[in-house]
Amino acid sequence: ADKKRKQIFQLLTQATAFYQQQLRKHESRIEAARYLTKRGLSADIVKNYQLGLAPPGWDLLINHLIEANSSLSEDSVKKLAIEAGLLVENPENQRRYDRFRNRIMFPILDVRNRVIGFGGRVLGNSEDNKKQPKYLNSPETPVFHKGKELYGLTYAKKIFSQIPQLLVVEGYMDVVSLAQFDIHYAVATLGTACGQDHLELAFKHTQEVIFCFDGDKAGRNAAKRALENCLPTMQDGRQVKFLFLPEGEDPDTLVRQIGKDSFEQMIGKAVPLEEYLFDSVAENMNLATMEGRASLSKKVAPLINLLPKGIYRELMFSNLARR
Ligand code: CTP
Ligand code: MN
Ligand code: MN
Ligand code: MN
Ligand code: MN
Repeated sequence: ADKKRKQIFQLLTQATAFYQQQLRKHESRIEAARYLTKRGLSADIVKNYQLGLAPPGWDLLINHLIEANSSLSEDSVKKLAIEAGLLVENPENQRRYDRFRNRIMFPILDVRNRVIGFGGRVLGNSEDNKKQPKYLNSPETPVFHKGKELYGLTYAKKIFSQIPQLLVVEGYMDVVSLAQFDIHYAVATLGTACGQDHLELAFKHTQEVIFCFDGDKAGRNAAKRALENCLPTMQDGRQVKFLFLPEGEDPDTLVRQIGKDSFEQMIGKAVPLEEYLFDSVAENMNLATMEGRASLSKKVAPLINLLPKGIYRELMFSNLARR
């Protein structure tokens, strides 16, 4: 099993280099470069984040991997590539083809700097590629567990000896875009909700987590789920805040409009957990009435009970009583 993991890591590393090379060589590099420019991504960022290109075509990557691993049989390379999430097998006709095609590729690194999977964004507008989902991630594999990894964490670790705060955003484009504006403390979950394992990982590296989801319905729902998921991880000394973006914006679009300083000023005004906890529940309640206050208490108390025992939880209960 250990040997298998090693081989999977090796394939993922080879795939990373292949995608990077395609971004320099393949004929579709021109379209890719145009797209990256349109998204405002510089050559430095592309290099630093090891971005690449999966060109259109069904077997470019797998043919490269077979060639690069000539000590293995073609069939064992294909089997490994399937386990690595790079190759897909159609269960109906057993045809095998490259999972990532016609996409900008974002390698996902773990905190030990190993490539464990990929996120791929389709080139151009999703409207032009109706059949293709805008984002495609590696599936769960022996080395990639979406629920446990944060995209961008390894870069933040490189920049800071002690990470002051982690901004949790929705997409890798948001992480990369913020980095371009010198904001190096953003991380993204990988197409999943921010769960307890994500938070424990974040809190291993910082004491302060700020959720900054998109200014849309999905983003606001994500914030509510993040609230519930973070409560059990709130040991004393840890801090969580919520930053709500203007309607229609995400961190990428907003930082491009207002720049680093204004963006960081907004971060400074993020809502602390202890406020958001009450506000999110009280949204449609009339606290002027006894009934309203009773129902607030009924809804908030179970949330506070999710907090670990400690001073913070006691403070929240007295906060509730005061309200
Ligand atoms: N995502 C994902 N898988 C999906 C859909 C979304 O992994 N099927 C992730 C992507 O990382 C995406 C994030 O969730 O960046 C938020 O989705 P959305 O806001 O719809 O992406 P956009 O910001 O619209 O993407 P872009 O800016 O690239 O157009
Ligand atoms: Mn969108
Ligand atoms: Mn969104
Ligand atoms: Mn976006
Ligand atoms: Mn978005």
